Amino acid sequence: MKIVNIEVNEILDSRGEKTLEVVLTDENYNKASSQIPKGKSTGSREAVSLGYQKAKENLKEKILPEVLNKEFNTITELDNFLLNLDGTKNKANLGGDLTLGVSISFARLLAQKNKKELWEILREEFFQDENNSTPPRIFANMINGGEHANNNLAFQEYIVVAETKENVKKTKESLLKFYNALNEKFKKEIGSEKISLGDEAGFCVNLKNSEEPFFILEKMIKEDFSESNFKIATDIAANSFYKDGKYIIDDKEFDEPSLVKYYTTLFKKIELFLSIEDPFYENNPESFEKLKNLLDNNKIIVGDDLTTTNLNEIEKFKKSINGIIIKANQIGSLTETALAINTAKNYDIKTIISHRSGETDDCFLIHIAKASNAYGVKIGPPQRERILKYDELIRIYD
Ligand code: PGA
Ligand code: ZN
Repeated sequence: MKIVNIEVNEILDSRGEKTLEVVLTDENYNKASSQIPKGKSTGSREAVSLGYQKAKENLKEKILPEVLNKEFNTITELDNFLLNLDGTKNKANLGGDLTLGVSISFARLLAQKNKKELWEILREEFFQDENNSTPPRIFANMINGGEHANNNLAFQEYIVVAETKENVKKTKESLLKFYNALNEKFKKEIGSEKISLGDEAGFCVNLKNSEEPFFILEKMIKEDFSESNFKIATDIAANSFYKDGKYIIDDKEFDEPSLVKYYTTLFKKIELFLSIEDPFYENNPESFEKLKNLLDNNKIIVGDDLTTTNLNEIEKFKKSINGIIIKANQIGSLTETALAINTAKNYDIKTIISHRSGETDDCFLIHIAKASNAYGVKIGPPQRERILKYDELIRIYD
């Protein structure tokens, strides 16, 4: 297939920040586009986002002269071409936002040409061994803290995890019921004027301390949602409260060993606890490993800022984790995202395909999840702009 044009448009994400839409045209004048989400609590090893102005310049000066009218038959061919053209470790030359946009739009053109869904094209090229079609577990954060909320909670996400038993529509309905019940509880106990929403549509409230949300979620699940089989997860996003070798939680200072102890004690108290993401600073893989070895085998230690969807980091840190967050814009191409997923799977690391706090209308993450038969998707609660990801799950699974 030949690309005859690439355009970028400046659009806004769900936080109202600028991001990219990338539109590709093929030799038959078919068009396909993609929109790139944007993170706020980012890992330092993530691919660089250069934004619209730079994307426009890079397209004109560096990409279009090299790419136009060349034949690319697979996503891998195009991505590897761009990877070489970029020549850096973190897409600092071309911008990971732009390269990912080109990659996804190209995959969509291939899908159109073959009259297939994006997920089918991805499965054929990267995940041939997958034939299971069980919906992924949904990680829906209900309460926000950390950098995603303006409140007193140190941890970024307090998550309810739902497994689909009947169909995704039913799962969405029970998560929505939970969300509304939590809203009612906060209105009654805290007052509606003191409730706002965090960046990913979870509730932003001030509570007694950073542990209290876990107990609130567990109590509600046990008392009112016992049929639903919900579990509890968290994204600690510890980068945000780490400084000079110390972690500050609720005005208390922790070093590595005392934080390991804090987590093991906390999670002994929460029966429904399933997984913990980024419990330590991104350059402390030893502490991840220590915690992993102390918790039961069925608990999941998830890397996000630690691993940044990067094959090399996964190789380095594979002993530290048994779960991983996959975000295509952390690495900047579908090919490298698929490589990260397949590497993780080789090491029995569970994959959770994730949104970003600044989201767009684009639901490519759901297609990556379906193509690769992911363990989970992290998509927020069924509220506001996050609903789109639920609708796409329902469309392609139910
Ligand atoms: P981000 O946060 O999209 O703001 O980086 C999400 C996460 O840390 O998982
Ligand atoms: Zn995270």
